[in-house]
Amino acid sequence: MVRIKYVTFFLLISSFAFAQHKATGVYHEQYRPQIHFSPPAHWMNDPNGLVYYQGVYNLFYQYYPNGTVWGPMHWGHATSTDLVHWTNKPIALYPDSLGLIFSGSAVVDYNNTSGFGQNGQPPLVVIFTHHNQANEKDGKNDTENESLAYSNDGGKTWTKYAHNPVLKNPGISDFRDPKVMWYAPEKKWVMTLATKDHITFYSSRNLKQWTKESEFGEHTGAHGGVWECPDLFPMTASDSKKTWVLIVNINPGGPQGGSATQYFTGYFDGKTFKVNHTDIRWLDMGSDEYAGVTWSNTPGRHIFLGWMSNWQYATSVPTKVWRSAMTIPRELKLVKVDTNYFIASEPVKELNRLKANSTALHNVTIKGNVSITNLVKRMDNQYQLSISSAQLKSFFVTLSNAAGEKLITGYDEAENCWYIDRTKAGDSAFNKDFAKRITTPRISKSKHADLTLVIDAASIELFADKGLNMITSIFFPKKPYTNLSISSKNMLLRDLNYSGFKSIWH
Ligand code: FRU
Repeated sequence: MVRIKYVTFFLLISSFAFAQHKATGVYHEQYRPQIHFSPPAHWMNDPNGLVYYQGVYNLFYQYYPNGTVWGPMHWGHATSTDLVHWTNKPIALYPDSLGLIFSGSAVVDYNNTSGFGQNGQPPLVVIFTHHNQANEKDGKNDTENESLAYSNDGGKTWTKYAHNPVLKNPGISDFRDPKVMWYAPEKKWVMTLATKDHITFYSSRNLKQWTKESEFGEHTGAHGGVWECPDLFPMTASDSKKTWVLIVNINPGGPQGGSATQYFTGYFDGKTFKVNHTDIRWLDMGSDEYAGVTWSNTPGRHIFLGWMSNWQYATSVPTKVWRSAMTIPRELKLVKVDTNYFIASEPVKELNRLKANSTALHNVTIKGNVSITNLVKRMDNQYQLSISSAQLKSFFVTLSNAAGEKLITGYDEAENCWYIDRTKAGDSAFNKDFAKRITTPRISKSKHADLTLVIDAASIELFADKGLNMITSIFFPKKPYTNLSISSKNMLLRDLNYSGFKSIWH
C-alpha cells in the first residue's frame, strides 16, 4: 500500500515537473526577455486595463493571437502578485460585431455605481475602444466608440455590457483609449480620452452615461502625431507639493522619431486640466517606451508600464515567435528641480526579488577602460548595474560580444546629456532608422553622477539621476553580449553595484 502511494506520488511529481517544463519551454528563444513580460507567442502592443485588486496585478494588453504582426485586436491577459513574475491567462476580450478591442483601462467599482456588482462584491469594469474596421474602410469618421465589460470573479472572466457602446463618436476619426479614474471630491468617474490632437474629459456617475466636460491640448505640447493612450492622476512630491499629471502618448512625433510618452503637470478640478509649464516633457526620451500608463487602485503608488517598442519598426524586429515586451514596471515620483516639478521613474522595488549574485564595490577608480566583467567575475544575460560618483564627468559603459557588436551608454559632459548608442549594437537591417545614438539633455542640477541600467536579452533601460532622465532602448546582437566595461579619463566611483537577475520564466 505504502509503495503504491509512493509510485503515485512519484508519477504525480514527474508529470507536474514535465508540465512545468513544457509550460515554460517557449521562453528560451534568442532575444527572449527573461525579466520582462512578453506573450508566449504572437503580437502584442499597448498595456491595457492595468488594475490591482485583491492582491493581484492584472495586465491586459493589445494582442493578435494569430500572427506576429498587428492584426484584429483582442485583449490578452496576464496576472502577477509581485509585478515581476507573470502568469499567462486566457484571452479576456475578443472582437465582436461592434469592432476590434482597442486600448482602454480598468477600475474597481467599489460603490457598484454601474450596478454590475453581484453578492455585495464590487465588479471590475473595463472601459475600452470598439474600433469598427468596416466603418473605417468606408471612410466613416465614427469608427471608434467607447464600451464596457465587467468581471464578477476578480478579472478571470468578462462579460461585455449589453448596451455598448456607452460613449458614441461625435465625428472624430481618432477617438480612443479611455483612461477612467474615480474623482472622489465629486463622487464621479472621469474619463480621459485621446481625441485626435487633444484630450477630451468626460464624467459619469455610473460608467454608463458620459457628459463632456472640457478639452485640453490642441495648442499645447508636442503635436508631431496623433495623441493616444492618456492617463490622469494626482501626485504628491516629497515636500508635500501636490500636482496633477496628464500623460499623453504620441505617435509619430516622439523625440527619437515615431512613438513616445509626453506628460504635463498642472491642475485638475474635476472638469478642466490647466498646465503649469510651457516646455515639452517626455517621460522617457528613448525610442522604445510607448503607450505607457499607470495601474489603477494602487493607493500611494504610481506604477507605470509601457510597451517596449516603437511603431516605426515594431512589426519588423527580428523575433520569430512573439513580438514585443513590456518595460519593467516603474514607480513614478514627483521631484523638484529648481522651482519645477518633474516626473522621475525608478524600477519597482519588487525587482530586487530577482537579484542573485550581487557584488558591491566602493571607491573604484576608472582610468581608461576597466572591465566590469573581470571586477565582478561574472556576466549574466539579465542584470542591473548601478554606479554613483561624487563627480560628474564623461564616462561610458560598453556591452560587447565576440562578433564585434557593442552598445554604448553613458554621460557626455560637453553635451550635458545621457545617451545610448546602438549604432553598432547588432542587427538593424530591418529598419533604416533603428541604428542611432539617442540622447537626453540632463534635467538634474546635482553635481553627482547616478546611473542605473536594467539590462535584459534585448533591451536596456537607463535610469539616470534617480530616474529624472530615462532612456529605453531595444537591440538585437547576433550573439549575446559577454563583456561589460566602463571607461572614463579619470573618475572615482563611490559605489558600483552589479546584480544578476533570475529569470522570471524558468
Ligand atoms: C497605440 C494604439 C492605440 C490603439 C491601439 C491599437 O499604440 O494605436 O491608440 O488603441 O494601439 O492596437
